[in-house]
Amino acid sequence: MGRDKVFVTRELPAAALERLANHCEAEVWGEFRPPDYDVILDKIGELDGLLCLLTDRIDAPLMDAAPQIKVISNLAVGYDNIDIAAASQRGIPIGNTPGVLNETTADFAFALLMATARRIPEARQYIHDGKWLTWHPTVLSGQDIFGATLGIIGCGRIGAAVMRRAQGFNMRVLVNSLESADEIRRLGGEKATLDELLCNSDFVSLHVPLTDETRHLISQRELNLMKPTAILINTARGSVVDPRALYAALRDGEILAAGLDVTDPEPVPLDDPLLTLDNCLIVPHIASASVATRAKMAEMAVDNLIAGLQGQPLPTCVNPEVYQRG
Ligand code: GLV
Repeated sequence: MGRDKVFVTRELPAAALERLANHCEAEVWGEFRPPDYDVILDKIGELDGLLCLLTDRIDAPLMDAAPQIKVISNLAVGYDNIDIAAASQRGIPIGNTPGVLNETTADFAFALLMATARRIPEARQYIHDGKWLTWHPTVLSGQDIFGATLGIIGCGRIGAAVMRRAQGFNMRVLVNSLESADEIRRLGGEKATLDELLCNSDFVSLHVPLTDETRHLISQRELNLMKPTAILINTARGSVVDPRALYAALRDGEILAAGLDVTDPEPVPLDDPLLTLDNCLIVPHIASASVATRAKMAEMAVDNLIAGLQGQPLPTCVNPEVYQRG
């Protein structure tokens, strides 16, 4: 019997690729940009496994073109790029990489919060523009973090990790999420409705997955409810926020600033109006990008792929219902 064939849609850390090569015949897409949909479509008919990224759209037609696929392993905790219902209907297990990136992502959400509150990117630019002529009592004044109120929308693993950081800053934490009030209190927060959270928070940080329910969860109405001094942080998915409404709110001073690790679309087009605003800090989807965490994510993605090829349950499977089928 020949070795299993897999396609890996981008270069991974070397250790993970070496391990993969010991188990199967792996073709790795070597270009910096993702393969086009049609490239994956061309290959998938021959594949036993696919290791993909959040930049790859994996939909039902692609799965229908893959008669022998045993596993699809996504190198990300989020999996909104994959039609999970279609995969489950076809009995294809889907892997993701939860857990290992919680603290790294929470660090980054807090980094964005602090950078926007204290206007660090603007301050750097101020020097580069030759404007630092003297110490001045009011120049580049920002918002206090210590003792402020943080609203966390979505209190799963990453939201809870952000809350732990907030405790070190003596913040009051309002939480809008599915967890019970008791559980949220145990974590150190107060359960709030979305509107209560938006009206009362100095910072609002998003930690929900992208689903039909959360798409444009933060839109004009929600931005209007926020304080004019409030700051929005998004390390979840760009489409959780309506970008046009956000632009208007930032431009018109309805909220003070935003720190975005994620945008809609990605990459953010260079002519996107959000890029013209000093009070909008945008970085290129790097919240989980520490060397150690990205290496761990690659190892997990490889673990899932190998388990799937061997007919074993994936260690981290987003659709375990596939194993309940007779
Ligand atoms: C990154 O956004 C991830 O979902 O892992």
